[in-house]
Amino acid sequence: MKNSHDVVVYICGLIAVIGIISASYLYLEGEDKDVKIENLLQERNTLLQKNNQKDADLIIASTTIAELQVDLEKIKDDLDDLADNYRNEKNRNEDFESQIRNLSGTLDDLDKLAKIDKELLAKYSKVYFLNENYVPKKLKQIDDKYILEGKKDQYFNAEAIDHLEDMLKASSKDDLDLKIVSAYRSFDEQVDLKGQFTQVYGTGANAFSADQGYSEHQLGTTLDLTTPGVGGAYTSFAETKEYQWLLDNAYKYGFILSYPKDNGFYVYEPWHWRFVGVELARHLNRSDETFYTMDQREINEYLIKLFD
Ligand code: DAL
Ligand code: ZN
Repeated sequence: MKNSHDVVVYICGLIAVIGIISASYLYLEGEDKDVKIENLLQERNTLLQKNNQKDADLIIASTTIAELQVDLEKIKDDLDDLADNYRNEKNRNEDFESQIRNLSGTLDDLDKLAKIDKELLAKYSKVYFLNENYVPKKLKQIDDKYILEGKKDQYFNAEAIDHLEDMLKASSKDDLDLKIVSAYRSFDEQVDLKGQFTQVYGTGANAFSADQGYSEHQLGTTLDLTTPGVGGAYTSFAETKEYQWLLDNAYKYGFILSYPKDNGFYVYEPWHWRFVGVELARHLNRSDETFYTMDQREINEYLIKLFD
């Protein structure tokens, strides 16, 4: 240094250089902060955008869920409707099946009824007349062992004969000896029989012998029973244990006493039994009615079960 003037100039120059450097540094540092702020702002904007996008996605998802819930409810309703329809259809089918069953039951009954001879439960006595041409549909010969010795072969309705033989077997098991004197009698046989009785008893025969066409024997479901001890005269059959057994048991096999005491048509005929089916015989056994005091329409209701 040559002089103080030079020192001042030197210092001033140094200060200026330092100032310039500091200003540049500060300037550069300020610029860097701006960039950072700018970056941060951009980042914030990006985040905000992302956030907005998420919110939008969330709204869309909520809307979709709500729509799905509506769809689900609709599907549930549809399923309920389907279930209702299915139940209704099932009920309708069941009703239909039951109607068909009833109808075929009715048809079976009608078919069964059409095959049963209605005369078999008609009240043949002094009032009701059976056509002279009437012959039972099918007769079967009764086993000889059940026929009273010395009597001719006897025939019985083929569909009822098992009931008759069951009854006779059951009575045999109880050590009884029931025998048949007469079963099916044709119109002509009744003419002969009534003629013979009339010759002996005159009009008195009407008290115990039906005219031709009025006898239950023509039906093939009626028989006169006795025991070897009593024989064909029947007079004391009512006193036998066989008769008591019939009173107690015949209904179980479908047989009834046609002409009990005070019957209004004929004398008391303990030997004369008619097959009317188990159901009707049981009914009569329980009630005070007799076959001939019952209404014919009421009797006919038992026709369908005649051979059961
Ligand atoms: N003994 C009865 C009434 C008849 O002859 O059929
Ligand atoms: Zn008889």
